[in-house]
Amino acid sequence: MTSTNNPLAWLTTRRSVRRYRPDPIPDAWIEQLLTAATWAPSAHNRQPWRFAVITNPGIREQLARAMGDRLQTDLSADGAPPDVIAADVNRSYQRLTAAPLLILLCLTMAEMDHYADGRRQQNEWIMAVQSTALAGQNLLLAAHALGLGACWLCAPLFCPDVVRTALRLPADWQPQALFTLGFPAEQKEKSRQPISSRVLYFR
Ligand SMILES: Cc1cc2nc3c(=O)[nH]c(=O)nc-3n(C[C@H](O)[C@H](O)[C@H](O)COP(=O)(O)O)c2cc1C
Repeated sequence: MTSTNNPLAWLTTRRSVRRYRPDPIPDAWIEQLLTAATWAPSAHNRQPWRFAVITNPGIREQLARAMGDRLQTDLSADGAPPDVIAADVNRSYQRLTAAPLLILLCLTMAEMDHYADGRRQQNEWIMAVQSTALAGQNLLLAAHALGLGACWLCAPLFCPDVVRTALRLPADWQPQALFTLGFPAEQKEKSRQPISSRVLYFR
């Protein structure tokens, strides 16, 4: 099937974009992105996702510095060389402060089911993680459909307490991912492994 007759071709052209023009994203577009995210399916339709939308430069800076400090502590504990640590911390800071829009994706268990036993409770939490990730993917695809660039950053998973404190998030919000977004300033190419290496068919 060629890209001209494949209605799914646009989906394959979404790339993680990490460099952006400084132009702000209109508020109406941000609302569209969030709306698209919340139309993801979710376990029991409980919609456990939560979003923190950060366009304020001061808050963005505070968050980037706090996350950078934790990264520095973690890399130092690993025994990484100081120049490597400095480069990593600087890269992280630049990426967060250069993006015109940051959206933090969190989950809450507040409206999920609660079980007395750990096995079922763990599965319920996994369902909340899966549902929240689907909202994240909807957000990425919506950004792509609008002509925006976006990238999923896993850093908040490694410093949830730092992120919660920097943004004064509600205590039950569990940070899952941080999205950088903006009008793209780079074009990326990526490949995928052949489907046959990832699938078992039972025909
Ligand atoms: C769960 C998850 C975590 C990711 N974390 C990061 C990250 O911390 N930094 C980054 O630059 N990209 C991150 N990415 C983006 C991946 O590197 C990217 O999706 C992958 O290389 C495929 O490229 P593509 O999105 O352009 O198809 C993450 C993606 C996912 C789904």
